[in-house]
Amino acid sequence: MELREVLGRRRSIRFVRPYKPVEKEKIQMMLEAARIASHWGNVQSLRALVVFRDSASKETLDAIQAPVAGWQIRLAPVIIVWYIDTASVDGQADRLRQLVEIGALGFGGKEKRHEALEKQLLPIFEGIREHLKLPGLSEVDCGQGIAQATLMAFELGLGTCCLGTPNGEQIRQALGLPDSCRILVLQTVGYPLEHWEAGGQRPRLPFEQIFQMNTYATPFPRDGAVVEQLHADGMLTAPAPLPEREAELEFLKKALDLKGSGLI
Ligand SMILES: Cc1cc2nc3c(=O)[nH]c(=O)nc-3n(C[C@H](O)[C@H](O)[C@H](O)COP(=O)(O)O)c2cc1C
Repeated sequence: MELREVLGRRRSIRFVRPYKPVEKEKIQMMLEAARIASHWGNVQSLRALVVFRDSASKETLDAIQAPVAGWQIRLAPVIIVWYIDTASVDGQADRLRQLVEIGALGFGGKEKRHEALEKQLLPIFEGIREHLKLPGLSEVDCGQGIAQATLMAFELGLGTCCLGTPNGEQIRQALGLPDSCRILVLQTVGYPLEHWEAGGQRPRLPFEQIFQMNTYATPFPRDGAVVEQLHADGMLTAPAPLPEREAELEFLKKALDLKGSGLI
């Protein structure tokens, strides 16, 4: 499947088969995909603690909770607790030295590159080191890693859904993660029970409203021919709600014995 079609078919899959375990190898492949994602300064602050429902302790399972549609956590055979370790910023100088050594950053002889790094670049970073540990740039990079893992999961026939939580600090402590860590998101993983369309492609804000060209006042012009091509390529697919969605939800609710609205 081409990347465009993968992007068009990826959905947050909330309904997974609770009885079908996810192979450890497949989770490893997700983590491998996350590990090679870009990160500023090659700092690599993304971390994950993978919880397998069939082998984790009750304390661990009880520790991971999310307020919005948190029932997904109770269904999923695997929950990946993605978190950031801000202490990785302390290793930044060494990561940069590695990049300079292998010629990944730019021109000049090796010696010259190292000198420029030590005398010019590193002092700048040293001055803003603590700032770089605050929420911001590094989270962007963690997001890139999580996105790569998500696409890998899709390729392996798995469904995933990210769940945010305001109780990150509580979860961090319960899981015994160091103080330097922040919980980013909980990602449920399982074999999909709902159809891949999951009710259709989810609505997005208008293209011109969110992207600009050259000035803030100038919306990026959306070329209809490109849109048509992306429809033909399978990246833009039938929009939600598909006519059968309500019946699908009703079926899933019964099959999974889910009570209530499903929102909490
Ligand atoms: C970082 C992140 C956090 C999310 N948190 C939640 C959540 O707490 N509860 C939930 O039901 N969905 C959550 N979602 C899923 C979004 O609601 C979903 O991505 C959105 O509805 C669009 O659907 P799509 O992913 O199928 O395109 C989260 C998604 C992301 C990327």
